[in-house]
Amino acid sequence: MNKFYVGILQFKPLLLKKEENIEKIISFIEGESPDLIVMPELAISGYFFRTKKEVERMSERIPDGKFFNVFKELSTRRKTAYVIGFPEKYRGNVYNSALYITPRGYGVYRKVHLFYEEKKFFKPGGSLNSIFRIKNFKIGVLICFDWIFPEASRTLALKGVHAIAHPSNLVLPGLAQLGMRVRAIENRIFTITANRVGIEKRGKKKYKFTGRSQIASPAGEIILSFDENEERLKIWEVDLKSTEDKFITPLNHVFKDRRKKIYLV
Ligand code: ACM
Repeated sequence: MNKFYVGILQFKPLLLKKEENIEKIISFIEGESPDLIVMPELAISGYFFRTKKEVERMSERIPDGKFFNVFKELSTRRKTAYVIGFPEKYRGNVYNSALYITPRGYGVYRKVHLFYEEKKFFKPGGSLNSIFRIKNFKIGVLICFDWIFPEASRTLALKGVHAIAHPSNLVLPGLAQLGMRVRAIENRIFTITANRVGIEKRGKKKYKFTGRSQIASPAGEIILSFDENEERLKIWEVDLKSTEDKFITPLNHVFKDRRKKIYLV
């Protein structure tokens, strides 16, 4: 019962090609049934938008449309939960969001900390309540640049998550991979970073996405990793129950030892 299998899909989404991206994702994940598959940020749209119109054209409302229905059907049939990044239209705004969908339900996380020019196109999310359950384990969701704010991971960890699913489009080489190892250590949880690969170039500007998706254990070990180019799904078993032990030595508990009164925040 405690066995828990996590998949990461690392791939190269095609910019502004939603239909092709959904087909590509399906072809990677269709035959597999781990408990959870985490996919990159903005996986159905690509990243390098130039106009608000482009973002609007790629955006989806939940629970309408093909995107949602494809994953709902897959999740029910394969008994697998998915976390996948997409541009979301919600109450007149567009968010950089991740859908989390399980055979029993779904929800949306809206990225709280927007990176660089994302601020031109998206409204920041206003909540870190993105937690869902699979097999009695709690999974929290953050997106990419959220990693640099330890408060975000800590908030989810204090709410009891066993792991953080972290869809990403990382461009600063190696930083988040290191940061998410630390987030795993300081909270005694697993972190599951699903990054994308490839280059998006428009005019003279380009983004190179850095791959190296990974799962970090509560001890800070990288237990599953990718290189900077490969496109594939990999699956690994994780011992989520072990994250309920918050002692890092017999006398040090990473939550109870916090000195809240002497911190600024
Ligand atoms: C990022 O937040 N996409 C770096």
